[in-house]
Amino acid sequence: MCGIVGYVGHRPALDVVLAGLRRLEYRGYDSAGVALPHSGGLAVERKAGALVNLEQRLDEIGRDTFTGTAGIGHTRWATHGPPTDRNAHPHRSGPADAGKTAVVHNGIIENYLPLRAELEALDIWAESDTDTEIAAHLVALAYAGRAADPSTKGDLPASVRSVALRLEGAFTLVVTHADEPDTIVAARRSSPLVLGLGEGETFLASDVAAFIEFTRNAVELGQDQVVTITRDGYDVTDFRGEPVAVSPFEVTWDLAAAEKGGHDYFMLKEIEEQPTAIADTLRGHLVDGRIVLDEQRLTDQDLRDVDKVFVVACGTAYHSGLLAKYAIEHWTRLPVEIEVASEFRYRDPVLDRSTLVVAISQSGETADTLEALRHAKDQKARVLAICNTNGAQIPRESDAVIYTHAGPEIGVAATKTFTAQVAANYLVGLALAQARGTKYPDEVVREFHELEAAPKAVETVLESLGEARALGQLLADSKAVLFLGRHVGYPVALEGALKLKELAYMHAEAFAAGELKHGPIALIEPGLPVIVVMPSPKGRAVLHSKLLSNIQEIKARGARTVVLAEAGDETVKPFADHLFELPPISTLLQPLVATVPLQVIAAEIARARGYDVDKPRNLAKSVTVE
Ligand code: M6R
Repeated sequence: MCGIVGYVGHRPALDVVLAGLRRLEYRGYDSAGVALPHSGGLAVERKAGALVNLEQRLDEIGRDTFTGTAGIGHTRWATHGPPTDRNAHPHRSGPADAGKTAVVHNGIIENYLPLRAELEALDIWAESDTDTEIAAHLVALAYAGRAADPSTKGDLPASVRSVALRLEGAFTLVVTHADEPDTIVAARRSSPLVLGLGEGETFLASDVAAFIEFTRNAVELGQDQVVTITRDGYDVTDFRGEPVAVSPFEVTWDLAAAEKGGHDYFMLKEIEEQPTAIADTLRGHLVDGRIVLDEQRLTDQDLRDVDKVFVVACGTAYHSGLLAKYAIEHWTRLPVEIEVASEFRYRDPVLDRSTLVVAISQSGETADTLEALRHAKDQKARVLAICNTNGAQIPRESDAVIYTHAGPEIGVAATKTFTAQVAANYLVGLALAQARGTKYPDEVVREFHELEAAPKAVETVLESLGEARALGQLLADSKAVLFLGRHVGYPVALEGALKLKELAYMHAEAFAAGELKHGPIALIEPGLPVIVVMPSPKGRAVLHSKLLSNIQEIKARGARTVVLAEAGDETVKPFADHLFELPPISTLLQPLVATVPLQVIAAEIARARGYDVDKPRNLAKSVTVE
């Protein structure tokens, strides 16, 4: 989830692009870069780290070559390749056109490896580790008339279209070419791109925040469209060059709201980004019918040798790890233990080289998880990291990595990274099942495709967020809230309670519903809200009927029941004071949909109580002390 800006107009482009990047820095801050046509060539500068590093660098080298009125810029959230100067965008072409083409990109190009091999066969070698750079070389070849179809020669929009047709995955690509200094061309598939329409100037950006200080007239690009902008306007086609009609709209948000996608808080925006976060996390992991990891320094034989799995993590990541246990045990028949990372190394866990330790961390820097990982490595165990931050310490010290491509999470409370972690955990389960042969290849592919369909179900839940908000309002005055679940509903209940504690500073406890009568039922008093995560009556009928009994037990004692149940589940209705319906989905995937309303309820209660949802008291996004 990177930030992209393009500009053609009458102002100094560098100032406009840097101002836009500043607004988009929340989308990525691993590195930043700009490219401006200048004197028949391109002036390009890129720098690892925050935008300020790039600005300092521009001051050092002087801004004399960056004086044009057109340009592109980028803030990066690393996916392929660590966050270094070399991997920073823009990426430019090489010998095909003497570096006259520069590209910035948001998304993941899934087929970049075969495309890179194709370029190497032409003696064109990538300088970076990114998937993006190949797009710069391919556009350069097309523009130079050296692609399979020479008709794109000297035609930048046609060149970009021809390349877009060859790319798989998600991408917003924005291209500048030294021979077309007053034109910028962009292509969009499954990744955002908006146009800003000013007087004698046109903007391109990942979101409107980048340009609303200059214009409020905007156009949202659709799926598989290419746009060409000049200072006089724009032209939109599909990937085949057919003209496409678009509808301009007026942006009514103020600047602060624009950065947050129109919300008061980043967290609410991040909740809505969950379908994309899950889809991006899965993207590119099924290649030729096989599950592949991101950085794999483990062989299939290593995975076959595993006889035990430990999952270590903290907080929300730990809750996602609980779900890993259900999936991995079910799919691989391997025993899985899950432990909070801060306890793991102090109790002498039994580990050896046949143990796989899965370390889950959004930040990749959490001290407890890092130390647990180091302890595991000291005992010769193999470590697989699940991480949202490319190049962080935890993935660096691990034997294999799966990145959750959720993009930066600004809200301290984890939301989109939780659901992305769940998706990544399931990828680990499938990779193990595949290597160990506990599932047939076609079964692995089927599970993967089912997982791929989950973002659609999450979108359905997002459509009913108004109901979740209303529930939050109703519960805002409560003294405490209890959460109940069974099986995969139990980690969901734990996560719901954690969100409520950290955001609304409300006493919240989650229980495995079967434990209720072993003590916690004594807490039930008239009016106490209890949120219950019901399994599907079809998926786990036994658990469903048991939980139905539990609801009746608490209802009989006066609890105010808030029930999350599958749409059409009539059996719960008589016992639910408030009902939130979830779309039907398979058992292991239910947490992806059931967690979303709980995140919203917690945020809404916090808002109603007047708390800062993005920055809860006493908490930090990354906890680097034990
Ligand atoms: O960066 P990590 O995933 O390792 O962080 C772990 C926890 O500190 C984190 O999940 C924390 O619990 C969140 N604030 C929960 O919303």
